[in-house]
Amino acid sequence: MLDVACGTGIVTRRLRRAGRTVPGVDRWEGMLGPAARRMPGAVVLGDAARLPLPRGSVDAVVIVWLLRLLPEPTAVLAEAARVLEPGGVLVTAVDKDKGYFVPDSDIARVTAALRERHRPRVPDGRARVLARAAGLGLRPAGETVFAGAGQGRSPRRWREVFAWGRTPWCAHAEPARVAEVCERLTALPEQDRPRPDPLYRLVTLRKKGAP
Ligand SMILES: C[S@@+](CC[C@H](N)C(=O)[O-])C[C@H]1O[C@@H](n2cnc3c(N)ncnc32)[C@H](O)[C@@H]1O
Repeated sequence: MLDVACGTGIVTRRLRRAGRTVPGVDRWEGMLGPAARRMPGAVVLGDAARLPLPRGSVDAVVIVWLLRLLPEPTAVLAEAARVLEPGGVLVTAVDKDKGYFVPDSDIARVTAALRERHRPRVPDGRARVLARAAGLGLRPAGETVFAGAGQGRSPRRWREVFAWGRTPWCAHAEPARVAEVCERLTALPEQDRPRPDPLYRLVTLRKKGAP
């Protein structure tokens, strides 16, 4: 099982089992240092679009929180498909930015119109990833969600996040509309109570052919 864009190895380490080899690959040495300390000898420097592995050499590929950082996911998906054996599976995270609003909450409702109107075109959108994967012989084989434990934000925290100006669906909205949403957030009860943890989505894609 190959962990692509393994970062500091937090996920890689959890994938390891007796009898299962899980090398990690990442393009940034700064990330690989901590990963190598966690798993000596198990991580290697490399680009997800040019993996240092032969065709059909792994049973499974895991890609967590990489696709969202790329302008276009196809090259990385194609490379995962190349190194997978026939019948092998790719598990990848999708729709990262939607995660915060999947559980029903007053914050999700207050921000819904703004998010809908200024939805960014994200490279890790589920539909986009599945469409690109289909063209590469990778078929949907399952989906699940997991909670981002402790990541639920309070209304006050969301207002601070807006103020940083990094929220994609705020960055392109008219300031007056953002201010309006902030006012509605201010009016919510329990300003410092974090709302439910976000639910992040994983999809499984199976490569055509028998193992
Ligand atoms: C948000 S981190 C995710 C790390 C890890 N998967 C996790 O969930 O903890 C994204 C990682 O992707 C790596 N990365 C970005 N572009 C890459 C590429 N083209 N090839 C390999 N790794 C890449 C970064 O160095 C970073 O470690």
